[in-house]
Amino acid sequence: MSKKVIFATGNAGKLEEIKMILSDLDIELLSMKEAGIEVDIVEDGTSFEENAMIKAKTIMELTGEITLADDSGLEVDYLNKEPGIYSARYMGENTPYNIKNKSIIDRLEGVEGQDRSARFVCVIAAVFPDGRAFTTRATIEGLIGYEEKGDNGFGYDPIVYIPEYNATTAQLTAQIKNTISHRGKALEQMKEILKKNYN
Ligand code: IMP
Repeated sequence: MSKKVIFATGNAGKLEEIKMILSDLDIELLSMKEAGIEVDIVEDGTSFEENAMIKAKTIMELTGEITLADDSGLEVDYLNKEPGIYSARYMGENTPYNIKNKSIIDRLEGVEGQDRSARFVCVIAAVFPDGRAFTTRATIEGLIGYEEKGDNGFGYDPIVYIPEYNATTAQLTAQIKNTISHRGKALEQMKEILKKNYN
């Protein structure tokens, strides 16, 4: 029988992406909703690792099943790595992203070239019922653009320009983004850890 693994997210898009990447593992991947869990988790950690662990540990304790969770965000070097772990909350959770993106572009006025460096960071945490816990971290490096470009993706995608692809992450197809993205790469690393540890 395949093992149950819960992914601690309410985000359907993330769950689909994760199902695709982990599809060759013999696991039954469930969202919190599918596992019958509804909780509001306070993410009061001071790093992506802490926040991902808080989410995974809370849900593992409620379900008794292996639980995965992610935490991600955008780091802009010129802004001392803001918005970082506050990426979703930057300027308020409900502020539209075209306003958040414009604010970041405006704060980089007069800043040129490599000084516009930024990255998306993703940390995946896994917590097992016996207490074993793991995290993986990956990034995708880019530069903050001068205007929003592209309609794919979500959030800060239209302002993160990836020089190697001559495109923002909002101009990449979902398939390409999944293979090169912070989340895709962190998940691939976690897949190897799961393969070694879930017996
Ligand atoms: P989380 O869902 O708590 O991990 O929040 C991550 C936040 O970081 C999102 O709400 C976005 O603002 C931002 N973010 C993370 N990954 C991406 C991405 O791939 N594209 C655009 N924005 C992202």
